[in-house]
Amino acid sequence: MDSTLADKVALVSGSGRGIGRSIALKFASQGARVVVNDLDAAPAEEVVAEIRASGGQAVACVGSVTAPDFAERFVGTAISEFKGLDIIVNNAGYTWDNVIQKMTDEQWYAMIDCHMTAPFRILRAAYPVIRDQSKADAQAGRRVVRKVVNGSRGATSRSA
Ligand SMILES: NC(=O)c1ccc[n+]([C@@H]2O[C@H](COP(=O)([O-])OP(=O)(O)OC[C@H]3O[C@@H](n4cnc5c(N)ncnc54)[C@H](O)[C@@H]3O)[C@@H](O)[C@H]2O)c1
Repeated sequence: MDSTLADKVALVSGSGRGIGRSIALKFASQGARVVVNDLDAAPAEEVVAEIRASGGQAVACVGSVTAPDFAERFVGTAISEFKGLDIIVNNAGYTWDNVIQKMTDEQWYAMIDCHMTAPFRILRAAYPVIRDQSKADAQAGRRVVRKVVNGSRGATSRSA
């Protein structure tokens, strides 16, 4: 196993399938401990099982990133299971777009909730954890790199 990300703890939303799944598997193969999230339990648990079968560490945190209590639960899982937080990948999302003249308010707010509000809440919940870790690192003279990747779909409507 490559140890580029050894000791790092990563949150990857929407990692039961697709791009998020590939990110979670890659991180784990490089030594990161991964909190795997997905709306659907089965694919999330499959990714966790795959990581563990390869000798890595992962845990599932199932649920929609749009749930009001999700961010605290997601960050809390990293802390309770792996005692830290270093990498956040806001990947969960989907496409429900349309040409602007046909896009409804329901579609608009669904896209905003999933792709904007949910990442905001996750970063807000993570802030005190990362601040405290960074302060402790600075006091100990350690230089630790932490990263946030906001990768979900930005565009919410197409032009006509
Ligand atoms: N594939 C592309 O070409 C492309 C292009 C631009 C942006 N994106 C964005 O990248 C991200 C990943 O795309 P993908 O192609 O891997 O999609 P995908 O559908 O293969 O995987 C996305 C995963 O996110 C999960 N998910 C969806 N809504 C969720 C929610 N509310 N809470 C938790 N999990 C949720 C799904 O269950 C799914 O497992 C998405 O945000 C997508 O909008 C993808």
